[in-house]
Amino acid sequence: GKILVLNGPNLNLLGTREPEIYGSLTLADINERLRCRAEEAGLDIEFLQSNHEGVLVDAIQAARGTADYIILNAAAFTHYSIAIRDAIAAVGVPVIEVHLSNIHQREAFRHTSVIAPVVLGQIAGLGAESYMAALEAIICRMGGAK
Ligand code: DQA
Repeated sequence: GKILVLNGPNLNLLGTREPEIYGSLTLADINERLRCRAEEAGLDIEFLQSNHEGVLVDAIQAARGTADYIILNAAAFTHYSIAIRDAIAAVGVPVIEVHLSNIHQREAFRHTSVIAPVVLGQIAGLGAESYMAALEAIICRMGGAK
């Protein structure tokens, strides 16, 4: 099995970016935790962060036939990228949408996710554990993996 972990704009700044909202872990810290758990379950895991919408669209397209699941934090694109939504709908690879913060208790413009209608599920507000919970769900759905 193979998992793709995609992170969108400004998530490369995790650790120093508004730590009261996003926590003090870096993206490398989060990815390390994911890698450790994926390896334990016998799953391949790949990571990509980009600040560019088209790069994320390309990565979602490339996942067709190569990845079993995508864990996606589309960051600000969550709220307005129809291109990312359409890519998810087009490829049919199941996506779990994750957010560090609880987008539903923040500014009104963060309450809407244009990708939510085309993903398997959404996990928000648990910090790095949002990603870990997504991976746990995938491992379960893959029969415990290995
Ligand atoms: C985020 C929430 C988004 O509203 C924001 O634009 C981000 C990060 C989160 O993980 O909490 O960049 O996706």
